[in-house]
Amino acid sequence: MDSIVVTGGAELRGTIPVAGAKNACLTLMPATLLTDEPLTLTNAPRLSDIRTMTQLLQSLGVEVTALQEGRVLAMSSHDLTSVRADYDIVRKMRASNLVLGPLLARAGRAVVSLPGGCAIGARPMDIHIAGLEALGARIELRDGYLHAEAPRGLRGAVIEQRFASVGATENVVMAATLAKGTTVLRNAAKEPEIVDLAKCLRAMGAKIDGAGSDTITIQGVERLHGATHPVVADRIELGTYMIAPAIAGGEVELTGGRRDLLPTFCEKLEEAGVTITETNAGLRVARANGRVRAVDVTTGIFPGFPTDLQAQMMALMCTADGVSVLEETIFENRFMHAPELMRMGARIAVHGGQATVTGVERLRGAPVMATDLRASVSLILAGLAAEGETRVARVYHLDRGYERVEEKLGAVGARIERVRGD
Ligand code: EPZ
Repeated sequence: MDSIVVTGGAELRGTIPVAGAKNACLTLMPATLLTDEPLTLTNAPRLSDIRTMTQLLQSLGVEVTALQEGRVLAMSSHDLTSVRADYDIVRKMRASNLVLGPLLARAGRAVVSLPGGCAIGARPMDIHIAGLEALGARIELRDGYLHAEAPRGLRGAVIEQRFASVGATENVVMAATLAKGTTVLRNAAKEPEIVDLAKCLRAMGAKIDGAGSDTITIQGVERLHGATHPVVADRIELGTYMIAPAIAGGEVELTGGRRDLLPTFCEKLEEAGVTITETNAGLRVARANGRVRAVDVTTGIFPGFPTDLQAQMMALMCTADGVSVLEETIFENRFMHAPELMRMGARIAVHGGQATVTGVERLRGAPVMATDLRASVSLILAGLAAEGETRVARVYHLDRGYERVEEKLGAVGARIERVRGD
C-alpha cells in the first residue's frame, strides 16, 4: 500500500486546478440508467470511486467509455443485463446505492446490497426506502440485500424526509423523473450536487423545479433522452486546498473554485484570519500573517459547514491561536483523525460529537494512519505545517476522493512525495 511523505515548513505559492465533484459524478453516472440514449459527462474527476461506479454500471450492462484520460465518461444503457448491485462493490463504496432509484424507474426492479457499516457511521438507508416506497415501490430486506420492485411502475407522491439526506434525495429525484404524475419532495437536501443532478436531468428532458431549496417538485415524463453534462466543481476538494495555504502559509489560487459552493466555510476561514479573493479564474486564498485564530465550527446540511471539511478544519485549528470547539452533527463517528493528529503533538479532547482543540505553535511530523477519505487528507494538511517528516499510510483512502494530491500540492511548493508500497 502506498504512503504519502510530507516534509513540513514550505510556504505555498501558485495555482491548483479544482477537479469535477466526486459526489456529483457518483450520482450523475447512475442517471444514465434512466434512458436508453447516450449520456456523456465532461469534467469528470479521475478517482478510484469513479472507477468503482464504472465497474458497477458495467456489471448492469451499461457501456461506459472513459475518454480524454477519464475526464469524459461516455455511457449508454441501451441493453441492461442485470438489476443487481453486489455486496462486494457496495461495501467498498456506499454511493453504489444510487442505482436503486434509477433501476426501479427504468426496469421496475432492483436488488441492491445494503452497504454495511463504514468507518464514519452506521449509514442506514431508511430514508431512501421510505421515499421510494412512497413512490409505490415494494422493498424487502433479504440476505443483506434490498429487493425492490415496482411492477406497475412508480407514481408521483408527496414525500417529507425525516432528515435532508443527500443520497435519499438523489435516489428519489431520479426515480420520480419517470413516475406517473407529480412528486413533491419536502425536506430535500440542498447541496450543490443536487442542483447539478437536476441540471443534468433537465437536459435529459426531466421536469424538475426547486432543486437547491428544501422542496423539489418533479413532474414525471414518459421517457428521458440522452445529454452531455459538465460535472460541477468539487467543493470539498476546493475547501481542502483552501486550507493548505492557511495552514502552511503563502498564497494559492484555486482555479474553478466558486465561493457560493462553500458559503459558511469561507466565512469561517475569514473569521480565522484567512483572506479569500474572488478572481475571474477562481478563488485566491492567503493567510494574512502568522497563525490563524481559533474559531468554533458546527457541521450541518447545506449551506452549513460541510461535514466533509470538518477533519481538514480540525487540522487547521490544531495550529491556531486559541481554543476551537468543533461539533460534528451529521455522522456519529467522524473524529478518527483526532488520535492521529495527537501523534503529531495536537491537543484535542473528544467528547461524543464534540472535539475541543487547543492550538499549538508547531506540530511535529510523525508516522500516521489514514482511516477514511477526509481524515487522510487532514493528516497531509497537518504535515504541511509540521516540523520534520509525516508519513501517511493507507493512502488508498485518499485516492478515492483526491486526484494526484502529491502533484497538486507539489506544484505549489509543498515537499511531498508518494512512496510506492508493497
Ligand atoms: C453524501 O453521503 C456524501 N457522499 C458524503 O460524502 C457526505 O458526507 C454526506 O452526503 C453528507 O453531506 C456522496 O455524495 C457519495 P446522507 P450520503 O444520506 O448521501 C443518515 C465523502 O467524504 N442517514 O446525507 O450517504 C446518515 O447515516 C462522503 O465524500 C440515515 O439515517 O449522506 C448520516 O448520519 C462521506 N438514513 C446522515 O443521515 C438514511 O436513509 C447524512 O447522510 C440516509 C442517511
